[in-house]
Amino acid sequence: PTRLIAMEGEHQAPHVLIFPLPFQGHINSMLKLAELLSIAGITVTFLNTPHSHNQLIHHSDVLSRFSRFPAFRFHTIIDGLPPDHPRTIKFFAQIISSFDSITKPIFRNWLVSGHFGSNLTCVVLDAFFKNFVDGNDDEVKQPIFGFRTISACCIWAYHCVPHLIDDGQLPIRGEEDMDRMITNLPGMENLLRCRDLPGFCRVTDTNDSVLQFNIKQTQRSNQFHALILNSFEDLDGPILSKIRTLWPNLYAIGPLHSLLRTKLSRETEALNNLWEVDRTCLAWLDNQPPGSVIYVSFGSITVMGNEGLMEFWHGLVNSGRNFLWVIRPDLVSGKNGEIEIPAELEEGTKQRGYVVGWAPQEKVLSHEAVGGFLTHSGWNSTLESIVAGKPMVCWPYTADQQVNSRFVSNVWKLGVDMKDLCDREIVAKMVNEIMVNRKEEFMRTASEMANLARRSVSPGGSSYADFDRLVNEIRLLSL
Ligand code: UDX
Repeated sequence: PTRLIAMEGEHQAPHVLIFPLPFQGHINSMLKLAELLSIAGITVTFLNTPHSHNQLIHHSDVLSRFSRFPAFRFHTIIDGLPPDHPRTIKFFAQIISSFDSITKPIFRNWLVSGHFGSNLTCVVLDAFFKNFVDGNDDEVKQPIFGFRTISACCIWAYHCVPHLIDDGQLPIRGEEDMDRMITNLPGMENLLRCRDLPGFCRVTDTNDSVLQFNIKQTQRSNQFHALILNSFEDLDGPILSKIRTLWPNLYAIGPLHSLLRTKLSRETEALNNLWEVDRTCLAWLDNQPPGSVIYVSFGSITVMGNEGLMEFWHGLVNSGRNFLWVIRPDLVSGKNGEIEIPAELEEGTKQRGYVVGWAPQEKVLSHEAVGGFLTHSGWNSTLESIVAGKPMVCWPYTADQQVNSRFVSNVWKLGVDMKDLCDREIVAKMVNEIMVNRKEEFMRTASEMANLARRSVSPGGSSYADFDRLVNEIRLLSL
């Protein structure tokens, strides 16, 4: 009967609900997926918390950008926190707990009661919300696709953590154990040291609640109808094959920002900003020689102490390179944006540096004046650097970033990993490794990978094909 209805043309257009964790890195890639699906003619409802939605429409031109899709909707759901709650990473556990007790039941009731309309075809849920939907809940009729914003290598490492515990390779026995090689992580044998494992593995007791939470979350994600990843075959082929043994219905459709450029046939302004973008840095870059600037940004959630900031500052000035640095208002704990250029560094910064609170990162990375990226190795930043063909100095902070930075340096050979080191000499040395000493070597590998990335999102490429397959599956589900 459903086939008959479809043939009579009475079926409704496919309608997808997209629900990201309301943090910058997650909204960023899932909003891109929302735009890509809208371009493909699918109706999209984008669900966000009021706080994050307001930040987004305040700092990005999302309303007018999406107004060309008449059926597209932004919709909000409460996170259960008071309006004046800071909602920063420092309060992550509190935010997640409120989501669990307040948001989760509302979300489930909305799905069951048809709150989003009777034509809702499926949900693309941030895989972080794995426990929002119980695979045995028969009342939830819509298939749930999981979207993982982190890297494939880290997803696989997460999955293997119980195996490492059974095998006695975990826990880590203190600081002196951090350089021990993990010998038998399947597919990554003798590649990761303890310090390269996902951030939550840095505990001395395997009963640690955060470690156990992450293990449980990873196991729960088996319930998804399909898994969508922001990666591509030429980058992650062997790991994607491993992940397919667990989730055969896998869509690797990245780099999403590059796929979006293909579908729009032009460069676009990124719409992910939750902060005020300072575009003056583009004019500054226009006045710098090609390849002369190291771009420095630690993403949206990294926090450091004032001491760490000073080590980076001295290191950058001492490196002798030009630098463009994003110091978010909340980057340094306790400073509330009140950071002044230290007197002893004032001259060097005036001569060679430019500091902003938030940059148009995609544009900055593709600027010809930028020759390298000092990054916290967040997955969006890593992919943006790969597409722009810029070598990286990695200073990972948490979560997947520890694994990503190891892959950047030891698997993809796209830069160097200064993991866990933060002193001025190391900073200056690492910056010069990619900008001067090993510049040619890294520029060559970076440009090769950039070509592969662009090829993957072009007609005939693996991500392009996987995205078409995803759209087709959603269309079939709506019949
Ligand atoms: C985090 C994790 O690190 C990441 O791996 C996970 O996938 C999502 O959550 P975040 O730490 O913010 O995200 O880093 P990243 O994934 O790199 O995302 C930051 C985004 O903000 C990037 O898309 C980047 O272009 C953007 N950005 C950053 C700006 O637009 N301007 C800036 O000044 C800094």
